[in-house]
Amino acid sequence: MGIVGAGFVGPHHVDAVRRLGFVDVVAVAGSNDDSGRRKASVLGARRGYGSYQALVDDPEVQVVHVATPNYLHYEVACAALAKGKHVVSDKPLATTAAEAKRLVDALERSGLVGAVTFNYRGNPLVQQARHAVAQGEIGRPTFLHGYYLQDWLLHDTDYSWRLDPDQGGASSALGDIGSHWCDLAQHISGARITHVLGDITTIIPRRKKPRGSREAFQTAGAQDDTEIVDIRVEDLASVLLRFDNGAKGTFSVGQVCPGHKNDLVVEICGSRSSLRWRQEHQNELWIGHRERANEVLQKDPSLLNPVVRHYAHLPGGHQEAWADAFYNVMRDIYGHILSRATAPATVPPSFATFHDAYRANCIVEAILQSARDGGVWTVVEC
Ligand SMILES: NC(=O)c1ccc[n+]([C@@H]2O[C@H](COP(=O)([O-])OP(=O)(O)OC[C@H]3O[C@@H](n4cnc5c(N)ncnc54)[C@H](O)[C@@H]3O)[C@@H](O)[C@H]2O)c1
Repeated sequence: MGIVGAGFVGPHHVDAVRRLGFVDVVAVAGSNDDSGRRKASVLGARRGYGSYQALVDDPEVQVVHVATPNYLHYEVACAALAKGKHVVSDKPLATTAAEAKRLVDALERSGLVGAVTFNYRGNPLVQQARHAVAQGEIGRPTFLHGYYLQDWLLHDTDYSWRLDPDQGGASSALGDIGSHWCDLAQHISGARITHVLGDITTIIPRRKKPRGSREAFQTAGAQDDTEIVDIRVEDLASVLLRFDNGAKGTFSVGQVCPGHKNDLVVEICGSRSSLRWRQEHQNELWIGHRERANEVLQKDPSLLNPVVRHYAHLPGGHQEAWADAFYNVMRDIYGHILSRATAPATVPPSFATFHDAYRANCIVEAILQSARDGGVWTVVEC
């Protein structure tokens, strides 16, 4: 594999594929020759490139991972597919639904594998919940709700390329973390979001942008040279939802919520029981009942349904974490790439496909449209 972009999340792609044992990290591409070489050396890749074109052209690279700022995902993925390479893109697949759709079509024509790292799917208890819903254990799903809150953009000195529409896209909180929430809620429930009603806000309308570069989630230094910029994207949003199975829902996202670090919560209430998974306590699954006491299922392979047991790697009481779920997603993706070499896939993969990610783009655009129209129900066109 080769990876384009090695800031915060890129090295986690590399760690995860290394754990597979059969993937060679051939090359890293950075934003210039120096950074490409430096990052290749730090990550132990054989070659470092100063442009994604050079990496895509490398005949030894069979799978191109994309972990750059959002605006580059589309062009890197297009270039990789044109060269006959599989693509593992970090989310979002593209900054607009129209571009994401073009990638879906290009992938279909190519016969290659395209995956997007909506990585919370890889958590053992997420898979346990998904399986429980599919087996009818909670009855008919009626209400999906939750939130995804963070605090890393709380101060006006906090800044990221995610806040610049030219680099991050037309949305910040919804595109960056709301897309994760929607993908996860749909993945667990098996239902699709069909209608949205959004209310979006920019709590901090002007920020101090550093004149130099700063990688994601780095806090400002007192001496940073900054300029004041107007912020045109939301940092807080609340959304009402309708699903194609008749269920209703609601979620909020915010990057300005003190104390919430990476606080993703999805709860699904059914006609019989409820299930709740919280990323910051990811080794527990809450199961709510009416006629008997509620339960908390601790992650323990021996207590998981046998069909999802392989998502857990450690015995009960040994905590698994974000990077382990990321690895599970890579295992599913690369397993799919390998199995396609011998037989065509017959079941939908458990990782997010380009089409799933296109759907996430469509949902975010529908929410933005709903908010622009003054908060009216809006159909997710996909
Ligand atoms: N799945 C997840 O949970 C998750 C978590 C974090 C980020 N992400 C996604 O991953 C992507 C990267 O986010 P990040 O937090 O790592 O950002 P980051 O700013 O830390 O890293 C981006 C890297 O890309 C490099 N880069 C910029 N232009 C480039 C170019 N032309 N060619 C090659 N490299 C270039 C930058 O130098 C930087 O090292 C984003 O799209 C983000 O949405 C996903």
